[in-house]
Amino acid sequence: MDANATSNFSSLLLLLLLSLLSTASTSMHGFIDDPLIQQVVSSSDGRDDLLMSAEHQFSEFKKEYGKSYPTQEEEDYRFGVFISNLRLARRNQILDPSAVHGVTKFSDLTPSEFRRQYLGSGRQMQLPKDIIISKAPILSTDDVPNTLNWTNMGAVTSVKDQGICNSCWAFSTIAVLEGAHFKANNELLELSAQQLIDCSTDTCDSTDEKKGSKKCNKGCKGGYREVAFKYIKDYAGGVMKADDYSSAEKDNKKCFKKSDNDERSVASVKEYSKIEANVDQYASYLYHHGPLAVKTDLEYDQTYKGGPICHHKKHPGNVAHAVTLVGYDESHWIVKNSYGENWGDRGYFTVCKNVLTNDGTWDPDAIYADAVAKNKKIDF
Ligand SMILES: *[C@@H]1O[C@H](CO)[C@@H](O)[C@H](O)[C@H]1NC(C)=O
Repeated sequence: MDANATSNFSSLLLLLLLSLLSTASTSMHGFIDDPLIQQVVSSSDGRDDLLMSAEHQFSEFKKEYGKSYPTQEEEDYRFGVFISNLRLARRNQILDPSAVHGVTKFSDLTPSEFRRQYLGSGRQMQLPKDIIISKAPILSTDDVPNTLNWTNMGAVTSVKDQGICNSCWAFSTIAVLEGAHFKANNELLELSAQQLIDCSTDTCDSTDEKKGSKKCNKGCKGGYREVAFKYIKDYAGGVMKADDYSSAEKDNKKCFKKSDNDERSVASVKEYSKIEANVDQYASYLYHHGPLAVKTDLEYDQTYKGGPICHHKKHPGNVAHAVTLVGYDESHWIVKNSYGENWGDRGYFTVCKNVLTNDGTWDPDAIYADAVAKNKKIDF
């Protein structure tokens, strides 16, 4: 950094601190309690304190998330990344003051490592033109309640951890089917996202013989919720329970087809479609059909710790992450993520309603599904 850049950097820091001070007293989420920010705010010699505090926070971080590094060199490198993520968290805190940003399980990854390992590349999330999904009809919004929480109503399974596998699309799809199955059959099953990851690959479309076709999902290298729903409805005819799938993993026949009528298939999709990008339609579909699969382009995942995200900041590139809407209050969505329970608000986040659609410039491609009712009523 040359002298000019350093002084620019210092004035930027000062600016950040000033805006931090002015927002600190009004924040409802107590981020002023964050020891690092307190140090910086109260100390005249912020730099040394920052470093000391960062060292302390890094060791706490390693303890909490069970992190260790093979070499001292790697450890030093990760500490540098950690410090830079403390700055990122502070920047995000200023941009997005209604949420809490800070140290998370992802604090030792560079933002580009994070995008690569957890979000896949934008290219993979862009739906090829030849994958068709029907448009959902417009629903009445008259009878829709002001608040709704499917987790509270027993329609949502525990938060899963996708690990270092770009499989958000599978977890989002499976959570929607779990909710729809609950609505149709009044039972909550843990369904197998792994089946979608393993099986909606080169077998995703029976009319498309070409292996590795763009219409197919790519396991841990990314995929589409649209293809996963189609795989369940048209190709496999259903999904196994998560436990049954893992115990059947060595079985060559685990990727069954619809025509196999495999008895291990316990839940299936009756129909699914894409909902118009409109917050009132989302609320109505949530109420009438259960949780929805949506994609977000928010950049805050890496530093998010809780509270509502109410500022829109887009990832660089065309990166999207699939998640599940499970409810709402007057102004926020309640969203289930797949980064484990030790991320965000016990694995969930909330987001201001309009931020999800970025006031009309971003289409979350919300998808609803209805499940097959197993105990069909007898028609006399
Ligand atoms: C939704 O319900 C769950 C389960 O009862 C609860 O933990 C969570 O805090 C609720 N979310 C909101 C935003 O009310």
